[in-house]
Amino acid sequence: MSSIWHGEGRRVRLCEVGMRDGLQNEAAFVPTADKIDLVDALSQAGAAKIEVTAFVSAQAIPALRDAEVVMREIRRRPGVVYSALVPNVRGAQRAIDARSDELNLVMSASESHNLANLRMTRGQSFAALSQVAALAREAGVAVNVSLSCCFGCPMEGEVPATTVLDWCERFVDELGAQGVTLCDTTGMAYPPQVQALVRDFRARWPATALTVHFHDTRGLGLANLLAAIDAGADCFDASLGGLGGCPYAPGASGNVCSEDMVHALALMGYDTGVDLHALMNAAERLPALIGHDLPGQIVKAGRRLDLHPLPDDFEATRARALGRG
Ligand code: COA
Ligand code: ZN
Repeated sequence: MSSIWHGEGRRVRLCEVGMRDGLQNEAAFVPTADKIDLVDALSQAGAAKIEVTAFVSAQAIPALRDAEVVMREIRRRPGVVYSALVPNVRGAQRAIDARSDELNLVMSASESHNLANLRMTRGQSFAALSQVAALAREAGVAVNVSLSCCFGCPMEGEVPATTVLDWCERFVDELGAQGVTLCDTTGMAYPPQVQALVRDFRARWPATALTVHFHDTRGLGLANLLAAIDAGADCFDASLGGLGGCPYAPGASGNVCSEDMVHALALMGYDTGVDLHALMNAAERLPALIGHDLPGQIVKAGRRLDLHPLPDDFEATRARALGRG
């Protein structure tokens, strides 16, 4: 009998978003060559998809002002999807020119968050993104939509599941998006809510690619991920080191950490196709590049069976203990 506790080799795909969702929130500008090296390391480690950068305004997100160079100069590994976030037609044209495999369109299921983040109503965003989708179709580039605040908005509170599914319907059925990412932008999701939304989505759009995106803001990231697996999801956004957080969402913090997720899923028998050691090596490079520590735990604690040296006084302690009979 299969259960979430026994993955039985079931395939779960990692979509690495640290280079976008992560770096957009950092004060430090990570040098372009280091960004390219990190994306290359993530490709080699076995990420299924990498959100490489965002083609947004350089004034709004200075950390990603080198989007073109990064997207053009990464080494592309066959089979890996190289995606980029785009907020408008200008961003879409830039992303297509830089040879992105996929445009990740972004809009919020919450009106307040959409206005705060994108300075448009949801209706205006949808109209702009319709033009982006048309451009992508002409260029033969895939479209994914990342819907922010699907599990709650830090300014409005509950976002009804019907609102979320209505926007999914417009993007999938009207615009022909190939994929949807349900985003828990500020860590408001909880397991039964996740299960219900993933089940509803899967029941209505069995053939549409579904990704789920959790932030660990309230310590529920991995629990939500397991709930989503139980409900039929198999593709997850996560970020190296647990980098991340939306600059326009109060109290936001990092995504579920990629290497912690891969470590946990491997213990449970899931096949992520990711080389954990290689992923940890990449994560270890981050603190020096961004100038602070990161929430990822496996890099600090080691994998479950990574052994630690015995204390220096171990032999003396043992001798004393044995001497006491
Ligand atoms: N690429 C490059 N520059 C862009 C751009 C894009 N995709 N979209 C807008 N700009 C530029 C404009 O040309 C303008 O530059 P200028 O002042 O030198 O003329 C500047 O950004 C601001 O544009 P403005 O017209 O005031 O706003 P807008 O409504 O066109 O742009 C956004 C709004 C949302 C596109 C812009 O604020 C943005 O990119 N924000 C980042 C959103 C984001 O990434 N959030 C986190 C991820 S969810
Ligand atoms: Zn996010």
